[in-house]
Amino acid sequence: MTHTYQHLTQSTDDNNIAWLILDVKGEAANVIGPELIEEMNTAISEISAQNPKGMIISSGKASGFIAGADVKKFEGITNSASDRELALSFIHMGQKLCQKIEDLPFPTLAMVKGFCMGGGLEIALSCDYIVTDDAPSTKLSLPEIQLGIHPGFGGTVRSIRRMGVLQAMPIMLTGRNLLPRQAKKIGLTDYCVPLRQLKSTAVQTILHKPAKKQAPKLAKLLETSPMRKLVAMQMRKQVASKAKQEHYPAPYALINIWEMHGSQSNEMYEAEAQSVATLVSTDTAQNLVRVFFLQNRLKALSNKGRDKKLFTPKHVHVIGGGVMGGDIAAWCAMQGLRVTIQDMNTEALGRVVGRANSGFKRRFRKDKVRIMQAQDNLIPDLHGHGIGKADVIIEAIFENLEAKQAIFKDVEQKAKKTAIIATNTSSIPLHEIAEVMKNPERLVGLHFFNPVFKMPLLEVVQTPDQTDPEIVKLAQSFGAHINKLPLPVRSSPGFLINRILMPYILEGVTLHQEGVPATIIDKAAVDYGMPMGPLELADTVGLDICLHVGKILANTVGVTLPTTLDKEVEQGRLGKKSGQGFYTWKKDKKVKPDKKQWAGDRHNIQSRLIKKLLAESKKCLEENIVEDADLLDAGVIFGTGFAPFRGGPMHALLEAKDSL
Ligand code: NAI
Repeated sequence: MTHTYQHLTQSTDDNNIAWLILDVKGEAANVIGPELIEEMNTAISEISAQNPKGMIISSGKASGFIAGADVKKFEGITNSASDRELALSFIHMGQKLCQKIEDLPFPTLAMVKGFCMGGGLEIALSCDYIVTDDAPSTKLSLPEIQLGIHPGFGGTVRSIRRMGVLQAMPIMLTGRNLLPRQAKKIGLTDYCVPLRQLKSTAVQTILHKPAKKQAPKLAKLLETSPMRKLVAMQMRKQVASKAKQEHYPAPYALINIWEMHGSQSNEMYEAEAQSVATLVSTDTAQNLVRVFFLQNRLKALSNKGRDKKLFTPKHVHVIGGGVMGGDIAAWCAMQGLRVTIQDMNTEALGRVVGRANSGFKRRFRKDKVRIMQAQDNLIPDLHGHGIGKADVIIEAIFENLEAKQAIFKDVEQKAKKTAIIATNTSSIPLHEIAEVMKNPERLVGLHFFNPVFKMPLLEVVQTPDQTDPEIVKLAQSFGAHINKLPLPVRSSPGFLINRILMPYILEGVTLHQEGVPATIIDKAAVDYGMPMGPLELADTVGLDICLHVGKILANTVGVTLPTTLDKEVEQGRLGKKSGQGFYTWKKDKKVKPDKKQWAGDRHNIQSRLIKKLLAESKKCLEENIVEDADLLDAGVIFGTGFAPFRGGPMHALLEAKDSL
């Protein structure tokens, strides 16, 4: 018997097992909203009345099991009593549904393939068993913390009961994705099997009812009140080293509710609900929700070319195997593309392969098959045989106009007619490079950020009235293929990110010149929420590069250069790479500087630094470097790590008014 609802189908198989197949109407992925919860409630009541052997929840979507609660529901929630009531009622609905599943008298199982995130994993956790396939596309997580809240459908309690606090808390505190094997190993799931065995394993589990997963005995010891105090203290310390409570209250709230109630007490459910209802209206949560939608906007932009199936890149050719080219090539190889990497220097090619191998090992840990696949994808190509075969050609040789022009003259003749021809230049205007090309409209900028493995943003650079818009679309689509967030920007000195960062860095140098210690300057920026202070950033980028870009921006867009930077570079103090800059560096690590006393106004330091960054953002918007304020905010957050809890510079500018 089959009963079809709007968002799910319920049926019973030959073994008298009930199947609940979720397929939310009008959405590419299953997202949980009140309607789905209501239908699941009704369907489960119906199933319960039939007294089946068991119930399996699975998904009808190719994208995965459940992507989580509908984030749109969190948007615009204020701290008014009525908004709190609204938030609480949704949370309670989810909690009741999960309780209903847990209370069913027959075995229940979540059969997971693809994404199983947030509220989706909470629903899975309320089942007796969780079974997944073993593909790397299957990912499990409780990522609520990234939205400024924590799990609210009972997930804080059930994850700890199932795995123990030492396994469950880090998952909730970081929100990181777990691959199927990792999830099985830490006791989150029961079985991880090849896709072809997924269904039969689910059925056999229901029929044989093996013992249910429970936290190890030691974990139960940690649930006693004195132990909870100790463990919570330790966790708070770890969290504090990464996030300040005033900026990110959610991890602290999560630790607090566990410390107060412990997962063995049912009171933790209500504490969880109240806590999420409070957190969701904070500025932090509202800004992080904004960041979530900004990220989706970038992804949607980049999917345009993909949807039309216009472009499926298979082969990338990179010219220049230095810091950037080498890492761009390794990154693309890791994304499953065939990559030829060209450099005129064989030693450079050797270094690319060596660095790529360590990158693959770090990224894929013990997955030998994936490491080998990535290694096989990366092919050193001294003579550039790959140019004529590649779908995307990326030039990343040193920053010199004539050398780049010579490359593109040659590339244009050899490349396939359909290939994307791109440069990774960070400061040369595209139209100058394209001057030597027969078809200058073919040249597009693909500006990656250093380190390529860590930075999610990719600036897709175009010259208005020159670059072919169709090629820009394809380049954006390429960004999506290699799992970067492509941001369309106009070719202009420094593009968007360097243009905005440089005044912030240079203001740091000016303050230092005025006698403020480097540690005080950097701390002021970090206290605002920047991932790194301007002087540590200058040392990391290299003072020579800062000077070079600073000069270009001084000559073109009026940035002011501090007078001391020239001298630092002249004397060989280049930052991290030379061992000495504003800090001393040993083996790429900053030597802890002596604490310096300084009696000045720290708020003024912070204000001066951030004002520069915000003012340059405003100018970029006025000059149409990006299309609108939201794209600017998205770019700066994903390109610089700008305090995500502030929602981006343009948003911060609106909020800050005169308070900076
Ligand atoms: P690099 O100096 O580390 O590497 C350049 C490589 O190109 C060297 O291995 C060199 O042997 C090779 N090369 C030079 N001429 C060549 C030719 N004609 N044919 C083949 N290979 C050739 O440079 P890096 O830092 O990797 O920068 C490369 C490009 O990326 C530059 O345009 C730079 O502006 C841009 N960029 C650099 C960033 C950084 O943080 N280093 C960040 C973003 C972009």
